[in-house]
Amino acid sequence: MSAALVSRVEDFSKSLDMAVDGVWSAPGRVNLIGEHTDYNEGFVLPFGIEQRTVVAMGRRDDRIIRVHSKQSDTAVEVSLNELSSDALSGWSAYPLGVAWALGEAGFDLSGVSGLDVVIDSDVPLGAGLSSSAAIECAVAVGLRDVWGFSTTDQELARICQRAENIAVGAPTGIMDQSVSLMAKDGHALFLDCRSLEIDAIPFDLQSDGLAIVVMDTQVKHSHANGGYSARRASCEKAVEALGVDALRDATIEQLEAKRGEMDDETYRRARHVITENDRVLNTVSVLKADGPRAIGDLLVASHVSMRDDFEISCPELNLAVDTALSAGAVGARMTGGGFGGAAIALVESAHAENLIARVEAAFADAGYYAPVCFSVIASEGAKRESL
Ligand code: GLA
Repeated sequence: MSAALVSRVEDFSKSLDMAVDGVWSAPGRVNLIGEHTDYNEGFVLPFGIEQRTVVAMGRRDDRIIRVHSKQSDTAVEVSLNELSSDALSGWSAYPLGVAWALGEAGFDLSGVSGLDVVIDSDVPLGAGLSSSAAIECAVAVGLRDVWGFSTTDQELARICQRAENIAVGAPTGIMDQSVSLMAKDGHALFLDCRSLEIDAIPFDLQSDGLAIVVMDTQVKHSHANGGYSARRASCEKAVEALGVDALRDATIEQLEAKRGEMDDETYRRARHVITENDRVLNTVSVLKADGPRAIGDLLVASHVSMRDDFEISCPELNLAVDTALSAGAVGARMTGGGFGGAAIALVESAHAENLIARVEAAFADAGYYAPVCFSVIASEGAKRESL
C-alpha cells in the first residue's frame, strides 16, 4: 500500500521539477483502548495502521519552505526567516507547524536550507484515525534527516504535539504522535503518557484468525472545536477537587470519597478516566495471558463509559458498536477523540464481511450516511522510504 503512495509522491515531485532528497512516511492509528487518558498522564494502547502519509523533500538553495499536497490545489510557502505559529493556518499549519516547533524546541534553524515538500496520504480525513499526526510525524522524521538534527522519538512526539496544540490550535494529547512515530508491525503500543515509556504488545490478529474492522461513520469531528477542550477542562476541575497531580494518580475510592464535593458531570468525567486507565492495564495483562479473544468485554466497557460518563459518543457510533456486537463481534467501541469519526470491532476474520454488511444495512435503515468500513492491521511507525 505505501509503495503505491511513494511512487505517487515521486511522480508528483517530478511534475513540479523538484529535486528529491528523500521520502518518508508515517501511519495513521487506531486506538485499541485508552481514550482521553493521554492528557491525564495515563495509559493508552494504540497501534499504527497500514494507511500512511508519505512526504518527499528536496533542498532548495534559498530559505523558503514550499509545501504541496496532493489533497489541495494550492501550494503554501513561507520563509524560514519569518516562521511564526500565528501566521499558519489551514492544512499547511501541520507541516509548517512542525518546522516552527523544531525551532521552538531549541533546534537551530538559522543555517538550514529551504525545502520543497510534497505530501500525499491515504489516511481518511476526519475519521478519528489521526490523519493529522500522520502528516506531522512524516514531516518531522523528514526534517530531522534533511536538516541533520538528532532527537529521540519521544522528543519528536512532543515537538509534533506542540505543532498541533499551538500552530493548528487543537489541544490534543501525546498519544497520536507517539504511536505514529513508534508503532511496531504486528504489535500494539502500550504507552505510559507520563514517562513516554513504551512496551510493544504482540497483536498479530491475522495469524489468530481475527480482524479489526474500522467503521467510519462519516460524521466529521474536529478537536479544534469545543467538545474536546470542554472534556479537558472537566478533568482539570476533577484534579483540583481530588488534590492530585493528574487523574492518573487518582483511584476510584478517592473519587467516591469526594463525590459530594463535585458536580455530577465532573464526577462522571473523572470516573471515565480513572476506570479507562484500569481497563488499559487490564487489556495489556489479558492480551499477554489469554490473547485477543479475551479482551471483548473490556472494549465494550470502554465504549459504555465513553457513551454514558464521558459523553463523547454519538448515535451513529453507538449504532455501529451495537450492530457489530449483535453481528457477533468479540468486542467493539468508538475510537479516538469522539463526537464522530470511527468505531472499531474485533471480530473473527470469517465474520468480518457479514459484520460490515450488517452495519451498512443498519445505517441505511436509520437514514444515516453510508459508513465506510475496512479492516486494518497493526503496522510500523514513521520511517524513511527511499534515498
Ligand atoms: C485525539 C487526541 C489524542 C487523544 C484522543 C482521545 O485523538 O489527538 O491526544 O486525546 O483524542 O483518546
